[in-house]
Amino acid sequence: MKLLKQVIIAVFFFAGCFAVLQSQLMLSGCSTSPGYSTMSPGQSLYSAKCSSCHRLIEPQAHSSSEWKYYVDKYGKKLSSEDKRVMLEYLTEGGQQRSNNN
Ligand code: HEC
Repeated sequence: MKLLKQVIIAVFFFAGCFAVLQSQLMLSGCSTSPGYSTMSPGQSLYSAKCSSCHRLIEPQAHSSSEWKYYVDKYGKKLSSEDKRVMLEYLTEGGQQRSNNN
């Protein structure tokens, strides 16, 4: 009886691990992984630097001048080159072709 209990606990333990592993794989698949083939440099910068505190906001949600303000506000640690590349994606690229990757 004791053994059975241990087996059941072990099964749940491993099932739990797999669930966590799976969700991490899925998360990294859609947010933090660079995805070199489909993402532009600005887009991968954006998803790498700006998704730690909140979901990624679609480029269409804000105008260019608003994005400039937000990238300055939240991207204080970024180099000016990184900010430029990111803004390029958020403003021009984002407004012309929305979710077209
Ligand atoms: C340290 C945590 C943190 C990081 C990193 C961060 N943000 Fe934010 N961001 C916040 C918080 C907190 C709010 C909500 C502020 C509020 O609602 O007043 C916010 C709000 C925003 C908003 C406005 C909310 C909306 O609905 O439109 C934009 C745009 C935004 N962030 C862009 C960015 C960009 C771009 C980056 C990367 C350069 C970034 N954030 C990185 C914490 C962060």
